This record gives sequence, C-alpha cells and structure tokens, in this order.
Amino acid sequence: MTQALRLGIAGLGTVGVGVVKIIRRHADLLKARTGRPIEIVAVSARDPDKDRGVNLSGYAWETDPVALARRDDIDVFVELMGGENGPAKASVEAALTTGKDVVTANKALLAIHGQALAEMAEAAGRVIRFEAAVAGGIPVIKSLTEGLAGNEVTRVMGVINGTCNYILTRMQSQGLGYNTLFEECAQLGYLEADPNLDVGGIDAAHKLALLASIAFGTKPNFDGIEIEGIEHISLDDIHQADDMGYRIKLLGVAQRTPRGLEQRMQPCLVPSDSPLGQLEGGTNMVVIEGDAVEQIVLRGPGAGEGPTASAVMGDVCDLARGLRIATFGRPADTLVEAKPAITGLPAPYYLRLALLDKPGALAKVAAILGNAGVSIDRMRQYAHAEDTAPVLIVTHKTTRATLDIALEDLRKTDVVSGEPVALRIEQV
Ligand SMILES: NC(=O)c1ccc[n+]([C@@H]2O[C@H](COP(=O)([O-])OP(=O)(O)OC[C@H]3O[C@@H](n4cnc5c(N)ncnc54)[C@H](OP(=O)(O)O)[C@@H]3O)[C@@H](O)[C@H]2O)c1
Repeated sequence: MTQALRLGIAGLGTVGVGVVKIIRRHADLLKARTGRPIEIVAVSARDPDKDRGVNLSGYAWETDPVALARRDDIDVFVELMGGENGPAKASVEAALTTGKDVVTANKALLAIHGQALAEMAEAAGRVIRFEAAVAGGIPVIKSLTEGLAGNEVTRVMGVINGTCNYILTRMQSQGLGYNTLFEECAQLGYLEADPNLDVGGIDAAHKLALLASIAFGTKPNFDGIEIEGIEHISLDDIHQADDMGYRIKLLGVAQRTPRGLEQRMQPCLVPSDSPLGQLEGGTNMVVIEGDAVEQIVLRGPGAGEGPTASAVMGDVCDLARGLRIATFGRPADTLVEAKPAITGLPAPYYLRLALLDKPGALAKVAAILGNAGVSIDRMRQYAHAEDTAPVLIVTHKTTRATLDIALEDLRKTDVVSGEPVALRIEQV
C-alpha cells in the first residue's frame, strides 16, 4: 500500500478539532483524492483531560508541542495553537529543522516572522503552507499562487475580518451603536482575547501582509501597513454614507503604485451596489485584479471550525499529493523589500464635520478645503443637534497628505466641533 502521510497536530481548539473531525469523517475520500491515507499520529494541547468532542484515544499525546514537532514518526507538523511567538514559533522551527513540512493557520506568526521561516524552510528543503491563515475557508492563496500564476497582479482588496464586518453591517441594518455591538460580539465569542486585534484592524492587517507578499513578490511587511480600526465609526457615518450610496467596510488594499507598494487596512466607503458593498455579516470577500484575468471576486466564510479546517485540509492534501509550492509562491531569497508608499494614490474622501451654529461657518470650511487644494464634489447639511449641525462632504480625488493639511486647519477653526471624520472612498 502507498505510504500514509503522517500528521502531528499541535492545538486542539476550534480549528484543530475541526481538522481531526474531517480526517476521521473523510478518511476514504481523502485517500481516494490524494492516492494515500492521511493519518494522525500524535497531538498536543495544554489540557489532556478536556473533553473536545472527538475521540483522540488512537493518537499519541505530547504535552510539549516542540517535542511533537521533533517526532521522527510524523511527516507534517500542523500548527493550530496561534500566537506570533512562544510555542507556535518554537515548534514550527523545530519541525522545519528536523525535516517536516508545516501547515499552519497562524497569520500573526507568518506576518511577523514569515520571511525568516520561509528561508528556514527552504534551507531544510521543506515548505510551509498557510491557506487557513487568510480568509478562513476561501482558497485565496491557492488562487493567487496557482490559478492566477500567469498574471501580474495589480491590486488585492478584501474584507478579511468577519467580526468587523458583522459589527458594521449590524450597525447599518439594525441601527445599533458600535458599543452595543462590541458587547454583543464579546458575548458571542466573536472577539479575539485581545479585541483590538479585531476592531483595531490588526488581525486583518496580518492577513493583508501575507496576501501582498504572495501577490507582489515582496517580503511580508506588516510594519509597512497603514492600519486604522473601526472604533470611531458612528451610526451617523453609517447612515450618511448610505444616504450618499455607500457602505462602510474595514477594507484591506494592497497595490503597486509608482511610489512603491501601498498597503492599507482602514474603514473605507465602497458603493452600496458593489460586491464588497453588499457583503453582509461575518462573511469575507477578496477581490484580485490581474493584467490578464482582469478581476475576480472570492466570497465565503472567513472563520469557524469547518471553514478553517477545510482550508487546512486543502494544504494537507497538497502535501499528500506531492505538490510543494514555495511558502510565498516563489523562492524566499527572490522576495524583495517592499518600498512602502504611504497614502500614495489620490482618491475621493468622505468628510463628516460637526459644524457650530455660527454665521459663515460653511463658507469658512469651503475656503479651508479650497486653500489646501481639496475640491468639493458634494455637500449635505443635516438637521441641527443642539448647537451643532453635521455636514457631510464628498471631495473630488485628493491625496491623504493634502487632506491632512486641510483637516489640521479645520481643527484650528472656531466653527468645527470635535474631531472631523475622514474616510477614503475606494473605487471598486
Ligand atoms: N478560529 C477560527 O475561526 C480561525 C480562523 C482562521 C485562523 N485561525 C487561527 O488558527 C489558530 C488556532 O485558532 P483556534 O481558534 O483553533 O484557537 P483555540 O480554539 O484557542 O485553540 C488553541 C489550541 O491551542 C492549544 N494550545 C495553546 N497553547 C498551547 C501550548 N503552549 N501547548 C500546547 N497547546 C497549546 C490549546 O490547548 P487547550 O485546548 O488545552 O487550551 C487549544 O487547543 C490560530 O493561529 C488562529 O489565528 C482561527
């Protein structure tokens, strides 16, 4: 019989248990598809006594994930613990240096240490696969490295944090405020232990760093991403954007510009009738543009036991078949440093200002924008709330740098109350 592919799985939480279930449920199907059995040899987690809802009795138990990674009776080390350092990094390194391929769902680990780990893998003649780390069940890495390999990618965009999209779409559809929905997400277990990873845009930025590296052949550069979370988005923004034909999304964008690689993870306005605008709830969407294919849109569940385990198993099956693609889609020593292009390409912006009820206030705002070189496309004034009135402005295309000059001057006037809100309108 053809030799089995032997797995060691570290981490038996949401994703790990999902992987065990698929391997048990689909043993015959996996063998038929890959031509060989896929077997779990040993597992590791912190608590050996926890009931995980699956039968683990046939697998060896290792208390230490590094010891599991070093076992000489496994071919592939499956890291599903999480964390950018600690046992995840130590065990992945141990696996590579002792001759195992690695499958992981750990975006933080790869966004921060991806280049060093890819080099380590290549030196050892091994590969690291991480489909589950980006957009859960959507096979976006496979699409970029395989299906779209004939394209020069020009732009990758995505809504790749389900929790943020859940909050923003519930604000829109239910009229609930950000704080209420944040609490709801905490109770439903939708938030990471550190919620700032979700609502602060960091988790999504980790994923964007990985997508950008594969799309543009650059070293993963998490520090080069402009990151802004959704905490300051108000119901007023949601409703007024809607009024103008837009939805607000936490959107990741990576694109080549004449000034370098632009990588942004920030709340943006997108047209309500675009695929991104219509994306509801916790679902993810990735849009890829290439010179030959033009545009493709991938949509699906970005998290959860089944979808994430599905992506892990796609990688495991590739290894069972002998498909060995370099970690970021090309040899690690050919990845180049990405020259970060901060606030590169001009775009229209949405501005919301709380204007004090003073004569000539609107004229003053228009003059400040004009003096900075920001021209107004549309402007609306809404009903007064006490002594201020919200004013919504859509600008013509401008750079963020130019807009920032105008915002600084607006803050200094005596007609604007509070902090102006400025959101980019993304052309999608
Ligand atoms: N959940 C998702 O929907 C999702 C989606 C995409 C990617 N991911 C990624 O998948 C990975 C796992 O996520 P998850 O949601 O499955 O996490 P989880 O439910 O918190 O499970 C983590 C598992 O790792 C084990 N673990 C933690 N520290 C350990 C240590 N020092 N030694 C041995 N085992 C250790 C835990 O053991 P105990 O059970 O004994 O505590 C637990 O079984 C993360 O990198 C995450 O970012 C998750």
